[in-house]
Amino acid sequence: MACTHTVTIYHRDLHQTYTVEVPEDRYILQAAENQGASLPFSCRNGACTTCAVRILEGEVDQPEAMGLSPDLRRQGYALLCVSYPRSDLRVETQDEDEVYELQFGRYFGKGKVRFGLPIEDD
Ligand code: FES
Repeated sequence: MACTHTVTIYHRDLHQTYTVEVPEDRYILQAAENQGASLPFSCRNGACTTCAVRILEGEVDQPEAMGLSPDLRRQGYALLCVSYPRSDLRVETQDEDEVYELQFGRYFGKGKVRFGLPIEDD
């Protein structure tokens, strides 16, 4: 039988903490939902980053997290929908679009286009 880990997830928007037990061969998001946690998600297959969390303590394995750059994985972000626990864990949900902006913001942020004309005082 797979080893089970205790995963504590702080949902920042709801100010709610969930503590769930997740076997090493189960995705954290699904196991947490089965134990009553209400967490952000969208695609459920590692592509959209809606389910991203910051890992405060512990380790995950997320080989299918294609939506997350190696850089952000190294910085301790994980996609719960495709993450397996590798130890007990403490994580917290991201701020809205945090991971998306960290990955793409620097490209879209360059050469900002301003619409409209500057308003001049008389
Ligand atoms: S729900 Fe889309 S990456 Fe997890």
